[in-house]
Amino acid sequence: MSDTRDPGDATGQAGRTAAGASAGDDPLLRVEGLTKLFKNDSGFLSWLTVDRDADGVPVTADREWVRAVEDVSFEIRRGETLGLVGESGCGKSTLARTLLRLIDPTEGDVYFEGDNLAELSGEALRRKRKDMQIIFQDPQSSLDPRMKVGPIVEEPMRAHDMLDDEGREERARELLSRVGLDPQHYNRHPHAFSGGQRQRINLARALSVNPDFVVCDEPTSALDASIQAQVLNTMRRLQEEFGLTYLFISHDLSVIRHISDRVAVMYLGEVVELADKEELYENPQHPYTQALLDSIPVPDPRESETRGVLEGDVPSPIEPPSGCRFRTRCPELIAPAEYDLTDAEWAAVRAFTRRVVRHGFEMTTQADLEAEFFGDTRPGGPAGEALDRAFVLLERKEPDAAADHLRDSFIEPSICAREQPSYEVDPEYGDGRHFCACHLQRDEELTH
Ligand SMILES: Nc1ncnc2c1ncn2[C@@H]1O[C@H](COP(=O)(O)OP(=O)(O)OP(=O)(O)O)[C@@H](O)[C@H]1O
Ligand code: SF4
Ligand SMILES: [Mg+2]
Repeated sequence: MSDTRDPGDATGQAGRTAAGASAGDDPLLRVEGLTKLFKNDSGFLSWLTVDRDADGVPVTADREWVRAVEDVSFEIRRGETLGLVGESGCGKSTLARTLLRLIDPTEGDVYFEGDNLAELSGEALRRKRKDMQIIFQDPQSSLDPRMKVGPIVEEPMRAHDMLDDEGREERARELLSRVGLDPQHYNRHPHAFSGGQRQRINLARALSVNPDFVVCDEPTSALDASIQAQVLNTMRRLQEEFGLTYLFISHDLSVIRHISDRVAVMYLGEVVELADKEELYENPQHPYTQALLDSIPVPDPRESETRGVLEGDVPSPIEPPSGCRFRTRCPELIAPAEYDLTDAEWAAVRAFTRRVVRHGFEMTTQADLEAEFFGDTRPGGPAGEALDRAFVLLERKEPDAAADHLRDSFIEPSICAREQPSYEVDPEYGDGRHFCACHLQRDEELTH
């Protein structure tokens, strides 16, 4: 773990928690060091693989766990919407389900209205659950096709013994109207409704028990853009009317921008950046956030190309990269401190290393490779010697050995591979706190 972490805040947590609300705020929800590992049972003996220790001795690696969410901390203030964005599989739904205790965390705590959910059980936990609802992406499968809309909306009220039959029906009809449906729809089956209307039924159901907090897990992702905008607008209106706090999950940065007050960006099980919306969109600091923003299609038809598409695949959460998990795809990986390289030299070394590690070129002569990657930016000194060795291995047609050598020479010694980053950034927009898990911030960090 990095020794450059924030020394701690009122919660006694390191920098990651510092990404939450400002000191003195009374958060509705506080998540501290939340971790969820799943047992990896896919494939016969899939965990039994051979790695090498520091001396090159083969050892058995423990690949038994899918590290879906790891050491995530943040706060959500009463009445705000925290957007949670990241690529498919980065752990958004697992985080949501864990913080609602729909599944048990492996480690970490969730405080809701000041109570540690882990310490509640029985009736106390049931009552808390009423105040925390979730809406899922697929409105089709989350509505029982055999039930009519009225009883669907009334179901949570019945589960929590709210009101009598008459009161529940009255409230269900009222809620249908509040979410933009006709109260007469009470007696219809869900199949009679469009996707957007079905999501409105889900909203009415979630609101029936008068929750304080609603987790919205990609609630509009399955909808057409125009319907999506209408449902989002309804959700914002309902937030005001019902005094709701949202955790809004989406892989779509445009949707997140539309609905959120603050935004958390997730990558491979970790929150890598968290800031007020304007700060995050106008002053993104993490290379992953920057790449995501760059790949949003530009609305101007004359500039319809998407830019900055991320290189490489997301690594497996079973064996995430050490240090910064984004380092295997990061275009800004930091040069190891022991080499004295110019920016141009490091850019060439980085590009060459990437290509060899990915075996992304045809075998060719040293002269051709040097010309393609280095031209007149070939570094000398220890870095040059490390490159010489790689070229020898490539000439000998030993690409795996060349890749290992380059990895050991230029990637593993980087601070990006050695230390987990966690920094506070001085915001340019507003005075909210800005958390960024990238070592590029190491010289800029605020001193507290
Ligand atoms: N029950 C489970 N057992 C094992 N692995 C799981 C389980 N649930 C999720 N995972 C793994 O955990 C990781 C995170 O999954 P999760 O569904 O939380 O991602 P996500 O960000 O919600 O993705 P999407 O955008 O596709 O919904 C993935 O690698 C997934 O395969
Ligand atoms: S810590 Fe290094 S690898 Fe990670 S995002 Fe920052 S520069 Fe890239
Ligand atoms: Mg999901």
